[in-house]
Amino acid sequence: MKLKVNGSEVEVTSEADTPLLWVLRDELQLVGTKYGCGIAQCGACTVHMDGRAIRSCVTPVAAAENREIQTIEGQAGEQGLSAVQRAWLETDVAQCGYCQSGQIMAASALLAENPRPNDAEIDAAMSGNICRCGTYPRIRKAVHLAAKWMSEERGA
Ligand code: FES
Ligand code: FES
Repeated sequence: MKLKVNGSEVEVTSEADTPLLWVLRDELQLVGTKYGCGIAQCGACTVHMDGRAIRSCVTPVAAAENREIQTIEGQAGEQGLSAVQRAWLETDVAQCGYCQSGQIMAASALLAENPRPNDAEIDAAMSGNICRCGTYPRIRKAVHLAAKWMSEERGA
């Protein structure tokens, strides 16, 4: 089956019901997307499908056919790191780092939909992304910073 991942068309041979997470990690070697729980409860496996955050551990690869998939490896563009990634670095969000690719993918999907979220909206959007290191206050700060930079870049 053919998939579009990070802007490139790729062919994969996994069974149709294989979770997208394992196709990304094992077949395509995109190991930035992490396995946490496997039951849509932690957010470590978050990627974008057509711009929306999804849990790749419970999404069969067949559901991703003909859809635009973006992983953490596709966040940076020709201009370098995304505003969300830069804000994460500036704010020193990561502790152990395990949950952070999922956090960044969730945050960037939020900002695409809601360019200036308030604290409550950030908490609501990110509540399914668990961080055992408790980086939530820095995540919130980084989302605000990314929102500010993105609005400046748009000239708003
Ligand atoms: S690994 Fe997918 S939500 Fe936990
Ligand atoms: S930074 Fe360690 S789990 Fe989130």
